Amino acid sequence: MNPDLTGNNNRVIAIDGPAASGKSSVSERLSRHLGFLHVNSGIMYRALAWSVLRSGIHAEDARAVIRHLGEIQMDCGISGDKATLTVDGIDPGSELKSSEVNAGVSAVSQVAEVRDVLVAKQREYLDVADIVMEGRDIGSVVFPDTPYKFFIDASIEIRALRRSKEGIVDNLAARDAIDSNRAVSPLVAADDAVVIDTSDMTLEQVLAEILDHLHQSGFNQLNEK
Ligand code: DC
Repeated sequence: MNPDLTGNNNRVIAIDGPAASGKSSVSERLSRHLGFLHVNSGIMYRALAWSVLRSGIHAEDARAVIRHLGEIQMDCGISGDKATLTVDGIDPGSELKSSEVNAGVSAVSQVAEVRDVLVAKQREYLDVADIVMEGRDIGSVVFPDTPYKFFIDASIEIRALRRSKEGIVDNLAARDAIDSNRAVSPLVAADDAVVIDTSDMTLEQVLAEILDHLHQSGFNQLNEK
């Protein structure tokens, strides 16, 4: 079986879910375990929001956001076993997690033209590596043909608790509402995704459950480390 969209033999495991559901931690662990590249697609939307805000543009001004995206150089690459991202040569680093970016990122990510450009960049990763990609629409839109799809969820209370432990201001309910109700590629569990509620689970348990499902669906174990 050749599950990807590119005609090569690289595989993609899609990990979708709402903010602070634990998808980043488990995507990181899973990619390390399998020797796959971990790509966090949310970083791309965050980098655009960061650049937009830095330029004094309102995140809600869709036309200005589209224009801005056409003017900047967003480079998504790989260094060693890590995915990298720069905007006009700058790595925004921890600024991508600031409360300002948290507040603006859902607005920029609901613009269809923005999604077209960033989804194309996300798909390019599969040309060069086996990947674990996390986001909101990876199983539903970016790689709908992959047989390996997971939707990682947790109650709003648990997710808010996780964020506050990180010391980050993040209005999860507001982001959930925009991410889930936008017209283009809303946050949704693909019909064929395995849904895992992590509210009462440890990271190890989530990882074990994903690996179990992968093996059941015929995933080749040869690459596992
Ligand atoms: O995963 P995250 O919380 O870092 O994502 C930040 C925002 O980016 C999220 O609120 C919605 C958007 N996003 C998206 O629309 N599609 C994706 N595949 C990933 C993120």
